[in-house]
Amino acid sequence: MYTLAVMNQKGGVGKTAVTINLGAALAEKGYRVLLVDLDPQGHLTEACGVPETTAPATLAKTLLADADKLTTEDVRLLLTPWRDRVDVIATNIDAFLLERELYRMRGVEWRLQRVLEHVESLDVYDACVIDCPPSLGVLTDNALVAAGQALVPVQSEDSALRALRLLLEQVATMQAELRVQIDLLGMVVNLFDKRRGQIVTSTLETLRTMSLPILGVVADRTAIREAWRAGLPVVEYAPDSPSAVTFRELAATLIEGGQPADAEAAAAGAGQ
Ligand SMILES: Nc1ncnc2c1ncn2[C@@H]1O[C@H](COP(=O)(O)OP(=O)(O)OP(=O)(O)O)[C@@H](O)[C@H]1O
Ligand SMILES: [Mg+2]
Repeated sequence: MYTLAVMNQKGGVGKTAVTINLGAALAEKGYRVLLVDLDPQGHLTEACGVPETTAPATLAKTLLADADKLTTEDVRLLLTPWRDRVDVIATNIDAFLLERELYRMRGVEWRLQRVLEHVESLDVYDACVIDCPPSLGVLTDNALVAAGQALVPVQSEDSALRALRLLLEQVATMQAELRVQIDLLGMVVNLFDKRRGQIVTSTLETLRTMSLPILGVVADRTAIREAWRAGLPVVEYAPDSPSAVTFRELAATLIEGGQPADAEAAAAGAGQ
């Protein structure tokens, strides 16, 4: 199962929008996709309009359960169908206490990995995309350990650079401490608005000098907000829109092994 964490401790950069729309674009290409809402805010659960998980089968309870006693049937209860070839592991209000409770336990960073091993054994998904909360805490660590690779949505603004440096440092520390390999595949520059002029284009230039490649540039588009509000991925809500095309291209880029996009051309296209 191709598993990917969508992470950035900075809030509002588009982690949830990228998770949903990239997941749906992968599904359109024939992948059977699972989206995981690992953010206690529950934005993905809400945006997809799927019911919150209910006791006893909540994601939070499953992550806190004794991993050795967890069964595949327990994990199956968490799966909610959403669109064609896209299912969701939703969250619920329990998740707000999850992070604090996890800190008190052992082996906390491996909890999601154990859950996804059960998902894998069902053999019903080809890809899994995990929406992380806006923090570099134990939940994001779980997503990184489980996925082993991550995509980083960023906005083309000055504060993105500082946030990105912190993220790179933190991931390096975590890799060393936990002795795991995390492959940061690259950035997705989101909410790009060329009309804001030189500030965003010069920040994009600086982002290009960072050690992470830019894998896609997603314009700030009404279609993405409208699709979110309609509870649909943009490839379904507005299949011919530039936004749908962008997410299909991003999905293709990842499938092909993450070749960096031509950021300049992508930004020019995103501004159309
Ligand atoms: N490319 C885009 N064009 C227009 N609106 C967008 C785009 N990307 C995201 N949005 C909107 O911007 C808002 C923030 O996006 P999103 O919730 O995906 O960010 P996030 O990083 O997940 O936030 P948080 O850190 O709170 O989890 C949402 O309302 C979303 O619909
Ligand atoms: Mg989010």
